[in-house]
This record gives sequence, structure tokens and C-alpha cells, in this order.
Amino acid sequence: MMNLQALIILGTLAGLASMASATPGTATFYTSYVPSACYGNTQEGTMIAAASDPLWNGGAICGKMFNVTCTGPTNPVPHPCTGNSVVVKIVDHCPGCGGTLDLSKEAFTAIADPVAGIIKIEYNE
Ligand SMILES: *[C@@H]1O[C@H](CO)[C@@H](O)[C@H](O)[C@H]1NC(C)=O
Repeated sequence: MMNLQALIILGTLAGLASMASATPGTATFYTSYVPSACYGNTQEGTMIAAASDPLWNGGAICGKMFNVTCTGPTNPVPHPCTGNSVVVKIVDHCPGCGGTLDLSKEAFTAIADPVAGIIKIEYNE
């Protein structure tokens, strides 16, 4: 039988674990969505993203949903973040992309000013 103290400790640990699962990275954007490495010529909507080499994992990442939040600028564009988060589905691979995730322009625009081109992000699955 669990006492209240044990429940509080467990709750705290769960809270810490969910915070720890947010991974920092960078994001760029792209505009040509098909064909994609995961789904060929099938359209997967516009709330999508492509994974860079370190995340791609031979395509195992296809179909995973990521919650992406803009955390700041990587370049002189001063305040790119809109303050929103966006949930995207991984549909493609971007072998040479300049960031961790290459977001659709629609997804990027939801969280940041596209003029920035590349931003700092935090993401979790
Ligand atoms: C995405 O992450 C942000 C920041 O951690 C959070 O505020 C938001 O509720 C999350 N959205 C979803 C759909 O999980």
C-alpha cells in the first residue's frame, strides 16, 4: 500500500523525467514535401518534418510525432520565436540539412519567423 509521501516522490520523479526528455537542437525549414523518404508520393499534410542523419536511424524514426518548441535565435534575427509549440510527424530524411530537424515551412512559421531561417529548438517525442 502506497503512502502519500511515496506518491509525491513518484510524481516528482515523473515530472523530472518528462523535463529531461526535451532535447535541444536547431531547426531549419523546407517547402517541397513529396516525394518523401518515408512515404514516397503519399501526402502527409503540412505539419511534418525531416530528420537529420543523427536522428534518422535507418528510417526507424518515420511516423514519430515530435513536439517542437522554439527556444531562441541562432543568428542576428533578434526575437524569432512566436511562443507557440508545434507537433510534427517525421516523414523525410535530410542528409545534409543544417539543423537537427528540417520543418515544413508551415510548422516552422507556427513557432518562429521564417526570416530567421534557422532557430534553436527543444523537442520531445
Ligand atoms: C509541447 O511542449 C511545450 C513546451 O514544453 C508544452 O508547453 C506543450 O504543452 C506541448 N504540447 C503538446 C501537444 O504536448
